[in-house]
Amino acid sequence: MWSNRWLFVLAAAGSAVGLGNIWKFPYIAGENGGGAFVLLYLLCVAFVGIPIMMAEVLIGREGRHSPINTMRTLTQQHHRNRLWVTIGWMGVVAGFLILSYYVVIAGWALHYIWQMAEGTFVGATGELAEATFDAFLADPWQLVLWQTLFMVATVWIISHGVIKGLERAIRWFMPLLFVLLMVLLGYAVNSDGFDAGWDFMFRFDWSALDQGSVLIAMGQAFFTLSLGMGAIMAYGAYLPSDTSLTGTVVVIALLDTLVAIAAGLAIFPIVFSNGLDAGEGPGLMFVTIPLAFGQMPFGVLFGTLFFVLVSFAAITSAISISEPALAYLVEQYNAKRSRVAVSLGVIAWILGIGSVLSFNHWSDVHIVGTLTFFDFVDYVSQNIMLPLGGVLIALFAAFALPKTVVGNQLGLRHPAVAVVWKLLCGVVAPVSVIFVFAVTVGLDELVLGLLGAGG
Ligand code: PHE
Repeated sequence: MWSNRWLFVLAAAGSAVGLGNIWKFPYIAGENGGGAFVLLYLLCVAFVGIPIMMAEVLIGREGRHSPINTMRTLTQQHHRNRLWVTIGWMGVVAGFLILSYYVVIAGWALHYIWQMAEGTFVGATGELAEATFDAFLADPWQLVLWQTLFMVATVWIISHGVIKGLERAIRWFMPLLFVLLMVLLGYAVNSDGFDAGWDFMFRFDWSALDQGSVLIAMGQAFFTLSLGMGAIMAYGAYLPSDTSLTGTVVVIALLDTLVAIAAGLAIFPIVFSNGLDAGEGPGLMFVTIPLAFGQMPFGVLFGTLFFVLVSFAAITSAISISEPALAYLVEQYNAKRSRVAVSLGVIAWILGIGSVLSFNHWSDVHIVGTLTFFDFVDYVSQNIMLPLGGVLIALFAAFALPKTVVGNQLGLRHPAVAVVWKLLCGVVAPVSVIFVFAVTVGLDELVLGLLGAGG
């Protein structure tokens, strides 16, 4: 059990806040034109993410096992179809895919601790920052080295059990990360590009969106909140019964969103002040942030600390990504935690080599359309598997679990609140996800076309 509710908030927030907020959110917002994308993402967090997070935590706390066994227990207990257990298995697969590339990018952050400490970016120009990053990406051995270091650290921590270490680490680094983001934000506010950056994030220019962007915004909401693969469900299993689930979930989602918005507001002004490209892609954070610290007093110190904190944020997320698979294997086969951790790490590490090569030797190898191996693994896990898993979780909570169980878990004393939750979880969230899937694959055009042909 977590010592108390606050520590569950920290751990879940530790899972949620990670590369998704600081690295991914700004770069995909940049690639998808800013404002309108940001608005869509916020809507998805509020109307799809929060209800589904409630569903995950409640299922986890009700089942009190690893996600796969939680689903087994609950389907048996309430005589439901065993097929629901697929949710657990899908989560494990999605976890491997995500972990494989997550560790690669986290390795970049680790490498940048060194770069910052050495003062590489003191007084650097945009071109130098870009060239430094490009040179790093071009060397697969470097990438593998840092990927390996990060993976070893993750495996070491998960071998020793999550709860103890995590509580202690998160308690100090989360607030610190926030402080440093505020330092960056302070710098951004005073830079010439601030107005342009602000406009970019909050001017809702719908023409910048295409059909694909809608799915990416939704996938991002799932990814950043750690939803749809059982990570939050696994942590929910440790939440004491007497703490308010609804309030806790809202706090976590708000924290997570705040960090993403702060990161965006810090990064885009730097982009525009230095004539960089907002649609730069995965390197956005690694070019802009070193640049800002390079121009700031005490930049070497703050910059080093910043990448230390990003690495911490990434490791607490990486731990939660592996938790569903790890917890299941330990529980089911009574296997030694450390042995399971090493095996999981090795599989994800090998898979990760594909992502490493996507940034150099395989940069012209496209799995589907223009997607490299990295893009493909990222796309399938974030934009397809997580939303799909999330919808199934929502439907299970809304329709397969008895009303009394849900009512008790959510602590909903007012019937009206229960109705609102059921509406969001059972109808709004699944319908939105399916609608977005349909729009993306172009079903809307198909239907309109057919209607047009019929009329
Ligand atoms: N939410 C994490 C982040 O934003 C990533 C993550 C995805 C963690 C899925 C767990 C499960 O970095």
